[in-house]
Amino acid sequence: MNEAAMGKAVRDSGVKREEVLSSLAASKIWYPDYGYESTLLCVDDSLEKIGLEYIDLYLIHSPETGKQSRLDTWRALIEQRNRGKLRTIGVSNFNVKHIEEIREACLELPAVNQMEIHPYCQNRPIVEYCKKNGIVLQAYCPLIRGQFDNPLFVELADKYKKTIAQVLVRWSLQHGFSPLPKSSRAHRIKENADVHDFEISDEDIARLDALDKGDDGALEWNPIHVD
Ligand SMILES: NC(=O)c1ccc[n+]([C@@H]2O[C@H](COP(=O)([O-])OP(=O)(O)OC[C@H]3O[C@@H](n4cnc5c(N)ncnc54)[C@H](OP(=O)(O)O)[C@@H]3O)[C@@H](O)[C@H]2O)c1
Repeated sequence: MNEAAMGKAVRDSGVKREEVLSSLAASKIWYPDYGYESTLLCVDDSLEKIGLEYIDLYLIHSPETGKQSRLDTWRALIEQRNRGKLRTIGVSNFNVKHIEEIREACLELPAVNQMEIHPYCQNRPIVEYCKKNGIVLQAYCPLIRGQFDNPLFVELADKYKKTIAQVLVRWSLQHGFSPLPKSSRAHRIKENADVHDFEISDEDIARLDALDKGDDGALEWNPIHVD
């Protein structure tokens, strides 16, 4: 729902269009618009709101509407990508079975799966599958929505002389994810990006990994098990 503002930001930034990072000019289709024809229209509508020639990354927001609807939506995204309106297409909150049904339909696999991933919710079977199949994992809620009250986070932030948010972003990067830390404050956006001058040791990564609670670690919404 921020397509117009995002498009204006990209247009006004002065950054060359082809240099815009693919995760920046991104949007999603939401379930009321799933289906072949409605997806075609939805992409055109997004493009009009964003005011750019093409969108870098376009995702199906979740697998919730059933197999046929998912596949019809995916076919329409492939079509719009082939027409040059989308640069990269992917999915979000898709479990292994949802991606496998795309393969079984002999369609190309998504380039990206955007998932909830942080130390409490690591979605390991999906992560392993996506890594094996060359699907980029975008990690949403990488800051656990600010739930920083864990002594291990405090200890590691102190040890590496960084903030807890930076330790969490770094954990995500070191796992090969593409984390999406959100902040509405400029100084935190800078802080969350300032993570390239330190490295968490393998031992400390393993201690953070041990915090995984599986499905129970999801913050509020976990549609990965729908049929
Ligand atoms: N695909 C999906 O289904 C799905 C679902 C949920 C989210 N997402 C995406 O993932 C992105 C991130 O998710 P999210 O916003 O839910 O969770 P998040 O990034 O884990 O946490 C954001 C929260 O952390 C705070 N924060 C940010 N930087 C901080 C810092 N350096 N120190 C302390 N607190 C900090 C923010 O507050 P301030 O804003 O006040 O700084 C905000 O309350 C969103 O932009 C969204 O697009 C996708």
